[in-house]
Amino acid sequence: MRTRRSIRRYKDKSVEKEKLVNILESARLAPSAMNKQPYTLVVVTERKVIKKLIAACNQDWATSTIIVMCALPSEAWTRDDGESYWKADAAIAMHNMSLVSLEEGLGTCWIAAFKESEIKKILGIPAHVRVMAMTPLGYAAEKKGPVTRRKSLEELVRYERW
Ligand SMILES: Cc1cc2nc3c(=O)[nH]c(=O)nc-3n(C[C@H](O)[C@H](O)[C@H](O)COP(=O)(O)O)c2cc1C
Repeated sequence: MRTRRSIRRYKDKSVEKEKLVNILESARLAPSAMNKQPYTLVVVTERKVIKKLIAACNQDWATSTIIVMCALPSEAWTRDDGESYWKADAAIAMHNMSLVSLEEGLGTCWIAAFKESEIKKILGIPAHVRVMAMTPLGYAAEKKGPVTRRKSLEELVRYERW
């Protein structure tokens, strides 16, 4: 937890198949509400498609692989009051991938600031599917120190009641 950082600079080196499969496996194994697993992952390695995705995210980095987390709200568990848990489910799977990537010596960075309609057009994603987030995946070309800039436990936690 202390050493996982968002990586925004990557080496021009592709990710080994076994590593990628291990990372995707960590998303497959993630828990989800009522075990609905309401998501599909799109792995993109084609350079020209990656360029288009990066442009749709208004980012200026380059990477050899992007994993796009596509959520399936219609398949997600929904509470009696109508609250649907697809974002939570997709986030857990994403975070599993970030942590296993780190273990594999690879960097990631959550990206949510994109134009969803553009991403859907680029990847041919159907209308009922939501693009929840994406992450570049690759060998870091920047060194980052441990996590800083977090709330203290005192700020973060209340015991027994609000
Ligand atoms: C849901 C979510 C969305 C994010 N969206 C973006 C994004 O669009 N672009 C970006 O550069 N970083 C994005 N980030 C990365 C955060 O800026 C980063 O996690 C935070 O500043 C803490 O830094 P660290 O990950 O290096 O500890 C996002 C992170 C999360 C969890």
